[in-house]
Amino acid sequence: MPESQAINQKAVKIVIVGAGSVGVTTAYALLLSGLVTEIVLIDIDAARAEGEAVDLSHAAHFAQTHARVRAATSYADCADAAIVILTAGVNQKPGQTRLDLVRTNHALFASVVPQVAAAAPDTILLVATNPVDVLTHAALELSGFPPERVIGSGTAMDTTRFRHELGRHYGVNPRNVHAVIIGEHGDSQLPVWSLASIAGMRLRDYCAQKGVAYDEAAMDGVAARTRGAAYEIIQRKGKTNYGVASVLTSIVEQIVKSSDAIVTVSRVGEYEGVGPVALSMPCKLNHTGSHMDVPLLLSDKEREGLKRSAGEIRGVIESIREG
Ligand SMILES: NC(=O)c1ccc[n+]([C@@H]2O[C@H](COP(=O)([O-])OP(=O)(O)OC[C@H]3O[C@@H](n4cnc5c(N)ncnc54)[C@H](O)[C@@H]3O)[C@@H](O)[C@H]2O)c1
Ligand SMILES: *[C@@H]1O[C@H](CO)[C@@H](O)[C@H](O)[C@H]1NC(C)=O
Repeated sequence: MPESQAINQKAVKIVIVGAGSVGVTTAYALLLSGLVTEIVLIDIDAARAEGEAVDLSHAAHFAQTHARVRAATSYADCADAAIVILTAGVNQKPGQTRLDLVRTNHALFASVVPQVAAAAPDTILLVATNPVDVLTHAALELSGFPPERVIGSGTAMDTTRFRHELGRHYGVNPRNVHAVIIGEHGDSQLPVWSLASIAGMRLRDYCAQKGVAYDEAAMDGVAARTRGAAYEIIQRKGKTNYGVASVLTSIVEQIVKSSDAIVTVSRVGEYEGVGPVALSMPCKLNHTGSHMDVPLLLSDKEREGLKRSAGEIRGVIESIREG
């Protein structure tokens, strides 16, 4: 790869903590994206991080723009990172919920996040480890960072799956479907039907125009398939990695390019009077992090659902506190 290309490009360093399945798939997607100039892998299993970094550095020769990939054993290497992605932690086993992982992964964050924050006080933390909302809240407290610089991947994946399912259901390209999943990245998440639209038309009007029934049972089926997608995948292959890695790469892209894209990511705040708690709402992503500029105009039923979801996550946070 010509050196001149690397010199012309603005330096963008990304650190990935956790060189497991999600971490290395994200590293590979980032490498091919041409968005970054340096990727650093950190894992408690130093040999694994080293092996993955060398393998990825060979793949780097085939990327559009060259990026350096290396492993590090110290969190001091987070210095100057634009974004530190946290993917370290235990994974769901078939039948486990994301909340089952909380104790182990919270202890891991308590040891890792303060070290990251000390080395990279101006960085943006991007949390993928589950349960992602609880750990986004923990990362905020443990880092002392402002809320806009602690972002959880949240329901960005669920929103993508939802649009995918709706696109299939109505026979249109998912890009023409505007609909979001908000709340917990987990079982209490909720689809915002009242604001869903296709090609700029409210879903109800779209259905009327097209002569198809606006069918609540079918809609519940779409929401259930969205909610159950990760369980279905884990049942079959034991983990999920490509979808989440692509979502993380896309979030990095919106931040690095300061694109002002609106994405459903998790962020600490107060929701329907419950808080502080992290959950997902549409947020604007730019160079300084995630911003909730405009509140969603939810229906009363949806506000109830959001309150329930916030309470659910808040309950887990309090249960950790009680030890
Ligand atoms: N947010 C999402 O949409 C989403 C999707 C898939 C997975 N996940 C979550 O991401 C996490 C990782 O999943 P995975 O499939 O990559 O698991 P994995 O087991 O493949 O990788 C986890 C890695 O973390 C490392 N690790 C463990 N303790 C560490 C520590 N103290 N410091 C540094 N590294 C440490 C392990 O050595 C391992 O390499 C899980 O919590 C999983 O639930 C989230
Ligand atoms: C990012 O968005 C926030 C909220 O809208 C705004 O205050 C800030 O100036 C923006 N920053 C950049 C770099 O665009």
